Amino acid sequence: KLTLDFTKPGATVSPMLYGLMTEEINHSYDGGLYAELIRNRIFKDHPNTPEGWSLVRQDSSSNAAIKLMAPTESNVLFDERRHAITGALTTCLRLTVEKANGRVGIANEGYWGIPVKPNTAYRASFYIKGSGSVQPPRRPGSQQSVAPQRPVIEDNTAGPIRVTIESNDGKTVYASGTIDLAKSIYWKKYELTLTTAADVKPTTDARFVISTDRTGLYYFNLVSLFPPTYKSRPNGNRPDLMQMMADMKPKFLRFPGGNFLEGPLLTDAFPWKQTLGPLEQRPGHKGSWGYRPSDGMGLLEFLLWCEDIGAEPVLGVYAGYSLNGDHIDAGPLLKPYVDDALDEIEYVIGDVNTYWGAKRAADGHPEPFKLRYIEIGNEDWFDRSNSYDGRFNQFRAAIEAKYSQLICISTIADAQYPDLKVTTGKKPAVLDEHYYRNSWAMWENASQYDSYDRNGPKIFVGEWATREGAPTTNLIAALGDAAWMTGMERNSDIVIMSCYAPLFVNVNTATTTAPKAWQWDSDLIGYNTLNSYGAPSYHVQKMFSHYLGDKIVPMTAENIPTQPRPLTRRDSADGKTTPPLVPTVFYSATKDEKTGAIYLKVVNTLGKKQPVEINLMGIGKVSPEATLVVIKGDKPEATNTITDPEKIVPVASKIKGIASVFTRSLDPYSVSIFQLQIG
Ligand code: AHR
Repeated sequence: KLTLDFTKPGATVSPMLYGLMTEEINHSYDGGLYAELIRNRIFKDHPNTPEGWSLVRQDSSSNAAIKLMAPTESNVLFDERRHAITGALTTCLRLTVEKANGRVGIANEGYWGIPVKPNTAYRASFYIKGSGSVQPPRRPGSQQSVAPQRPVIEDNTAGPIRVTIESNDGKTVYASGTIDLAKSIYWKKYELTLTTAADVKPTTDARFVISTDRTGLYYFNLVSLFPPTYKSRPNGNRPDLMQMMADMKPKFLRFPGGNFLEGPLLTDAFPWKQTLGPLEQRPGHKGSWGYRPSDGMGLLEFLLWCEDIGAEPVLGVYAGYSLNGDHIDAGPLLKPYVDDALDEIEYVIGDVNTYWGAKRAADGHPEPFKLRYIEIGNEDWFDRSNSYDGRFNQFRAAIEAKYSQLICISTIADAQYPDLKVTTGKKPAVLDEHYYRNSWAMWENASQYDSYDRNGPKIFVGEWATREGAPTTNLIAALGDAAWMTGMERNSDIVIMSCYAPLFVNVNTATTTAPKAWQWDSDLIGYNTLNSYGAPSYHVQKMFSHYLGDKIVPMTAENIPTQPRPLTRRDSADGKTTPPLVPTVFYSATKDEKTGAIYLKVVNTLGKKQPVEINLMGIGKVSPEATLVVIKGDKPEATNTITDPEKIVPVASKIKGIASVFTRSLDPYSVSIFQLQIG
């Protein structure tokens, strides 16, 4: 029996309760949300082989080769000394065509293929220059140094260069165009649009090719190909993934990490300053998840992303601690890091008369962004040196001195790490807690916030997930999530923000040339090169944020059936032999004060129907009709996949017979949301 008590005033639901968390993991941006289709566009990945690139030859008698050219390369021929476009684009790709029998070129395999769709305009751009090769000049002082140099490879580079999106065997051309390469030893950027026909069938069996049929040395850099983007933003994002996020109605976006904020070493922290401005100035950096982010998704792009989905940024600033355990102690050595965070905040909210505000305006966004929450670091409980207290306070003091309106979030939760928490000065206003658990642990701990100190700091559950299912979560994980969310929602006077992690996963498996795309199982939104889908957990998130009032309705429960949780290794270590009992029904309710709508969420974690009596105590008049939204499945491991994306999705129906006391039977393995109406 569940009782919703309308006689007591309920606390206010946090208006920021449900948001998103993001970082570059699982090819979330490169090969994911960030719409760039060219892998390794500036040739920085895998210094010895041009990762993602290969030589194309129509006729094997063409004598051609590709090679990465670094600026410090020893035996460079003399025109190659000019091959750095900017300080960021220092490595280029050289195509040497000694003999051309038919077409010769370079091909990019994309991120697990290039997505070909009908009637689609792709924007291609690249830097290119051509030359012939000549014999190296003689040493100064040598008698023959004045002799004219003999071409070794004849320079026929000037002329048409073909650009195509084509099948991997080269037999089908999906879209093509031509540029006219000028004779010049200096870099020049060329741009063109490639458009597919209306009858093209969607495929990822495609590559991007730039080709010639003439001899010479061709140099390439910053090769880029963009399909249409969300809201047609240049350097923008994949529309399907943006739409999926917008549909969740997130109140905020926490970025840029996660571990991605920290980097493996102190020198690898998210380099926000070098993620600004034209792509020509973005060298990319090491990243934290085993591959090199291009940083096409830079600070401004994160902020525009927030704007595009109506979310407020929650900005994580690097706090002098990285993943290998190194840290900078509070004091003068930490000051440059604090200053860097102040610069970053100024970029986000400074007016155009400030140095970084002016930079943002120059980057195309004169209006300051909305910003209220700054997170100082990420998971600093891993810093066993206990330096966070000092580091947090140094950052907080400097940030608050300049921006009194900002709220600094501590990454150490008192409840989880009492020995490491911030104790100096005033208590942090908000603590970030992270929970990665299985469904049993979620069910067991779903009520943990019921007993949190109401006078203590507010809680931001900045990363959490029920980790079952891969690459995306399954039904039982979604039931773990839903139970956990009822606990956060019932306590959203203290749990002011929450976000699931990780948000994205590229589900492509390894190919002969590309590695498996993901590093972390149990993610929310899966996609390949062409399509995307939501895990059952995604739909639960969406349901919870859509059906949400502004006041918590106090609830009590009687006779909730329980089940024994399996014993864990930790239990055995603690000498526990009797399994604890965990509830099998979870619940929360909120009310929209303006409309009188009541949203009652109930989770049934058992594989059988469970009857529930719902008592609307003190409600007055309730409409006999209601909307019921249910997500369910037939077995715990049931899930959605890229090939079967809609197996587990919510279904809405109208139900009748609602009164101040009514009974319903909850479906097996289900989350049900009742939208009731007062009056
Ligand atoms: O979400 C994956 C990782 O889990 C995050 O990068 C990190 O903050 C946490 O440990």
